[in-house]
Amino acid sequence: MKRSPTDRVIEIIPSILSADFAILAEEIKRVEQAGCKRIHLDVMDGNFVPNITFGPVVIEAIRRRTNLYLEAHLMIDRPERYLHYFKHAGANGVTVHQEACGDFFETLKGVKRLGMDVGVALKPETPVENIKDVLLDLDYILIMTVEPGFGGQSFILGSEEKISEVRDLLREKGYEIPIEVDGGINPETASFAVKAGGTRLVAGHAVFSGDLTRNIEELRESVKSALERPGALHDK
Ligand code: DX5
Ligand code: ZN
Repeated sequence: MKRSPTDRVIEIIPSILSADFAILAEEIKRVEQAGCKRIHLDVMDGNFVPNITFGPVVIEAIRRRTNLYLEAHLMIDRPERYLHYFKHAGANGVTVHQEACGDFFETLKGVKRLGMDVGVALKPETPVENIKDVLLDLDYILIMTVEPGFGGQSFILGSEEKISEVRDLLREKGYEIPIEVDGGINPETASFAVKAGGTRLVAGHAVFSGDLTRNIEELRESVKSALERPGALHDK
């Protein structure tokens, strides 16, 4: 049976960067109740990006509270040094930036050897070209639509082209790898990202500011109408 475009399942993945860390367990409970399946964890070291967040200790504490899929977005230099800590903490997936790795290919293999999924994150300036040779080794691709480092920034307009470039590349090769879009996702930009080919939307500020359940509902509504109106603005 031929699948229609509206059959595409688009996941909303809350990034806890904008959560209230003083009541993190409650925030995670709300994420679960809203029906999300994954949590995005932004790990920053103050070197690769100009901000410091949290590391494996916090992830381990989160793991004790939930069975949701935990994906660690590593914005740290030489992530290969820490992979086993993230495994030990209970991460299911690890996302790395090629620019941060000593040996990129070895790092991807290292994540897989530890039994975790591996993704590669592309910064706004990083060309799609960089992942062409490793596509078969990836479980997902993450396209950054803000400069990494901080939550609550605005989606960089024009990023849609890069999302479509990755979608077209995967189609050409016949690979079905999820395309995550990370940064500045709100009900308006969610629509742009989905129409361009994004299949998973990471959202921090738009999820955790105010009523989480309603926020997630609004994002889902926007995704739904984007899939139903494929000919509208920003469609490819
Ligand atoms: C930025 C992070 C993002 C961030 C997204 O460096 O990678 O995951 O949390 O937050 P919002 O949705 O607020 O842009
Ligand atoms: Zn992120």
